Amino acid sequence: MISEKMVKALNDQINAELYSAYLYLAMSADFKSKNLEGFANWMRVQTKEEMAHAMKFFDFIVERLGKVELEAIKKPQAGWPSPLAMFEAAYKHEQFITDKINKLVELAQSEKDHAMESFLKWFVDEQVEEEASADKIVQQLKLVKDSAGSLLMIDHQLAKREFNSPAK
Ligand SMILES: [Fe+2]
Ligand SMILES: [Fe+2]
Repeated sequence: MISEKMVKALNDQINAELYSAYLYLAMSADFKSKNLEGFANWMRVQTKEEMAHAMKFFDFIVERLGKVELEAIKKPQAGWPSPLAMFEAAYKHEQFITDKINKLVELAQSEKDHAMESFLKWFVDEQVEEEASADKIVQQLKLVKDSAGSLLMIDHQLAKREFNSPAK
């Protein structure tokens, strides 16, 4: 069994992960409208990752005999001024998610819920990767500035990203 407080916090995290999926899908749409297919693909793959994150929390709540309760998902921004602005927003968002994961870990520790703490370890590691991959693209975009040729080269690179379902 799992405490009510924990179930509430985990349900909130499902919502945050689904919002992440929604945010990246909005970014994918914005890139599509700008004909940056590779960037759009990267964001679409990220959307799938976020859905998978949400499902991991969903399954964990069910497994621990808690009740999943879904809340409304906030409307994401529809457009951004530039690819750099978009990836800066993505990076900032991942920092926000990392903070939420850390708070969940602290809650698990305060309630001495070792199963929960062990489950969250995967997310602690994942957030390191999430921040690093968004930041890498921020740095690349800063480097190329307004060079259309270089932007298309990055676009070509990001077109190769494929979705790998995270280990259970
Ligand atoms: Fe996530
Ligand atoms: Fe990831």
